[in-house]
Amino acid sequence: MPRTLTLARFKALLLFLSVFLNLYFLLLHAPSALLSRYTSSPTTRRHLVFAIASSSRSWSRREPYLRLWCSPASTRAFAFLDRAPIDSSGDKSVARVVVSGDTSRFPYTFKGGLRSAIRVARMVKEVVDRGEPDVRWFVFGDDDTVFFVENLVRTLSKYDHDRWFYVGSNSESYQQNVKYSFDMAFGGGGFAISHSLATALARVFDSCLMRYGHWYGSDARVFSCVAELGVGLTHEPGFHQVDMRGNLFGMLSAHPLSPLVSLHHVDATDPIFPNMNNTQALEHLFEAVNVDPARILQQIVCYDMSHSLTVSVAWGYAIQVYDGNELLPDLLSMQKTFMPWRRSGSIDASQYMFNMRDYPRDKCKRPTVFFLESIVSSSHGILSNYSRHNVENCSKANAIKNLEQIRVFSQKLKLDSDEMKAQRRQCCEILPSFNDSMTINIRRCRDNELISMNF
Ligand SMILES: *[C@@H]1O[C@H](CO)[C@@H](O)[C@H](O)[C@H]1NC(C)=O
Ligand SMILES: *[C@@H]1O[C@H](CO)[C@@H](O)[C@H](O)[C@H]1NC(C)=O
Ligand SMILES: *[C@@H]1O[C@H](CO)[C@@H](O)[C@H](O)[C@H]1NC(C)=O
Ligand SMILES: *[C@@H]1O[C@H](CO)[C@@H](O)[C@H](O)[C@H]1NC(C)=O
Repeated sequence: MPRTLTLARFKALLLFLSVFLNLYFLLLHAPSALLSRYTSSPTTRRHLVFAIASSSRSWSRREPYLRLWCSPASTRAFAFLDRAPIDSSGDKSVARVVVSGDTSRFPYTFKGGLRSAIRVARMVKEVVDRGEPDVRWFVFGDDDTVFFVENLVRTLSKYDHDRWFYVGSNSESYQQNVKYSFDMAFGGGGFAISHSLATALARVFDSCLMRYGHWYGSDARVFSCVAELGVGLTHEPGFHQVDMRGNLFGMLSAHPLSPLVSLHHVDATDPIFPNMNNTQALEHLFEAVNVDPARILQQIVCYDMSHSLTVSVAWGYAIQVYDGNELLPDLLSMQKTFMPWRRSGSIDASQYMFNMRDYPRDKCKRPTVFFLESIVSSSHGILSNYSRHNVENCSKANAIKNLEQIRVFSQKLKLDSDEMKAQRRQCCEILPSFNDSMTINIRRCRDNELISMNF
């Protein structure tokens, strides 16, 4: 007995000593990089620096779009202009206005193109050379690009800013991608470059510019130089170049699961809400964005078996109510409500990078649409309110004949970094009885729950 006890004690002592010594040497000699991996704070808005391509002619017209997502107090943004703006808002300016450096020594040979492409491309060097402190990502966009910054932060947090990353998206237009590259981040949709890659790029950029005088745009020049450094595009579907015109409804109501990061060409398309101009419509969208950014445009589908209805919610924007059972995969494709960017282009589906379905010409054959009216948030959750958009006097199924408003309850969507890596669509249910007002509750799906009409 005493013998075994001593042995056990001795073993315990040895174990203790070895754990202690291990910890001691680990903490004493661990390379600082190993430790910093654990101490690195989460990426926030403050770690981003935006460089916005603008010009003295467009600045005052486009500044209201920047105002939607950018504020001097919370966002570091520099607007690069060819010269000082004509009517400057001075100290009240939403971004720091910077006059770009001289680029007359670089070649530009693209016929019918604009030399300003070089100036704009060179933002990637000029913004790094400013030496801003504590930058994890440099983000580039145009003055008609609207960013959804919280979602951008979440998206970029998936990647290690100490490694070389070039994050963005190509065009929705197949032809544009053929012309430039399927692997190029289109500049209007915006793209992000990790600080470490940006630092390397800034050192070599001027020498790259000498080789690409034959390219049309600025984004192709950045893409080429990034490619020469041996880095490829990390594709994130939340960036939107929006090489489309007209009514974006079909695109916005079937957004991919990735959070919405950007929208471009915001004044070249129709206003996204009825009876508003472009600025007002985007301001209206931002009422929802500011309440629950991660959920904006997220598509959630629920079914009412007793009335045979299918309801597709694009949160914060619009709801469509279909008569009958629409299968989920069909609802995930985009309704063809928009036109190609090139006005001469044909309108067939093969020119886009995504699946589409027809939007009936006969307005009465379309689903009934409800647009965001108002939104309120409290400690119990979020109530968004959508009201019916009547275009014609169409006779609708009895169940929705009187339906004028839809109220949607949800909780703020918190996507932590694990959820960002494996996203899952949420579920919803329609409260049983409705007449002129319907209530929908959005919640997480249960483990084995299927998004379908249950029989
Ligand atoms: C949009 O409407 C608002 C409010 O009526 C107005 O102040 C603003 O100038 C309009 N913007 C444009 C671009 O027409
Ligand atoms: C929703 O909007 C409609 C139309 O403006 C309004 O009549 C209704 O009171 C609103 N409901 C809520 C809950 O805010
Ligand atoms: C719908 O019908 C009402 C009443 O018959 C009529 O006043 C209204 O103008 C019609 N609206 C449309 C868009 O046709
Ligand atoms: C449904 O709403 C309509 C219009 O608001 C109203 O006339 C009707 O009485 C309501 N029906 C029921 C059962 O509440």
